[in-house]
Parts: sequence; structure tokens; C-alpha cells
Amino acid sequence: MELLQQGRDALDAVIAGVNLVEDDPKDNSVGYGGLPNEEGVVELDASVMHGPTGRGGAVAALRNVRYASRVARLVMERTDHVLLVGEGALKFAKAHGFKEEELLTDAARETWLRWKETLSNQDDWLPPHTIDTLDVGQNVKQALRHYGTINCNALDQQGGLSGCTTTSGLAFKIPGRVGDSPILGAGLWVDNDVGAAGSTGRGEANLLACSSVMIVEWMRSGQSPKTRASQPASGSRSRPR
Ligand code: GLY
Repeated sequence: MELLQQGRDALDAVIAGVNLVEDDPKDNSVGYGGLPNEEGVVELDASVMHGPTGRGGAVAALRNVRYASRVARLVMERTDHVLLVGEGALKFAKAHGFKEEELLTDAARETWLRWKETLSNQDDWLPPHTIDTLDVGQNVKQALRHYGTINCNALDQQGGLSGCTTTSGLAFKIPGRVGDSPILGAGLWVDNDVGAAGSTGRGEANLLACSSVMIVEWMRSGQSPKTRASQPASGSRSRPR
């Protein structure tokens, strides 16, 4: 908000806004401190869109760099591509001076370890127990899956609209899983003449619906952002949840 009040471009403001969360070790769904994949490795997804130029950039399955949003911006501004993934995204970030760091905090590692230890009573990983509670069959619990994400969109004093979505994605995902956040049209869409939309929640559902671009298009046709999408016509395929 301070950057917007200073007259800066909305893209600077939304990235600075989400950087606060990417930096926050207490937020376990974005950047540093995010919950890892099933192998205990944090993989980040992010996208940006700049309304005035109609450009966008994104990274997926980025390891060891907390500012996925900034790397996404560099993909937009310093390449002729839109999306870089995995090792290529990391090499690109390093080429631009980002230093590799461990993103897995002790708190996130402990959460992951508990998930792993209570996933099955058929493997050799045991949660804390005494000799009397060694039967971990009693301890296997339904793990809570986290889908937290941050989307931030803003309008600047020049009338420029920009957006950013950044996340560590689904907790304990299969390595290489990519959610909706870095997919333009799904996790983020900005049209400078109409509006912006972005998403949190279960990325797999949104990848099959491309909700962000749909919302902006419905706004173009006159619907309010608060209007609920109508139910599918009877007989039509219902959207996955
Ligand atoms: N919405 C974030 C994700 O599913 O990865």
C-alpha cells in the first residue's frame, strides 16, 4: 500500500506485498517455511501478470529460492518465455544472482516428519511412542492437506493493474507436482481493461476450470466479482471439487 501511495507500479507493490509472506517462516504455505513435498523438499510455484503491457511470467517446482514471485517477474522481463520449471528455473534464478538456501524450517520438517511417521502402519517410520504404544496402527491418522497460497492484485495511480500468486503448493505432494498458481489463466489472470483474479485452494480443481480467466471474462460481460457462478446445466459434466 505504501508503494502504491508513492505512485509506484502495481507490480512492484504486489510483489513487495507477497514477499512479506514469502519471508515469513510462520506461514507454512508460501516461500520460506512452506510445507515440503513427500520427500521433504520445498518446491515453490509463482506467477505474475502486468496489466499495462499484457505480459506474464511464472516459475514452477522452484527449489532453494524463497522469492518465487521475483523470479517469476524476471522470467517475464528478462526472457522470451512465460514459464520456467524445476532445475531450469533454479539455474535461471542463480544467473540473476539469487543465492540458494534451505527453505525447510525445523517447524515444517517436524510437520512433514509427523505426516511420514503416521502415514502407514506398514512401513518402518514410527511416531513418538512408548513400549506400550508401539502398535502404531493406533496412531495412523488422516493427515491434514494444506493448500494455502497468496494472491495479491492491485490497481496503481496510473490505472495499471497487476497481480501475483505465490505458493509452496500442496503439502507432501509428489515431487514435481505443479498446482494452479503458476498457470496463467488458472492461478492468476489480469486484464488491464477489465480486472484481475487469482486463486487459493485445491489447485487440481482450478487447473480443470481455469477460474481466474473465467472470472475476468465474466466481469467483462458485466457480472460483479461477487456474483456466484451459475450451476452447470443439468446433464452437463460437473466441475471437480
Ligand atoms: N493453490 C495452490 C496449489 O494447489 O498448489
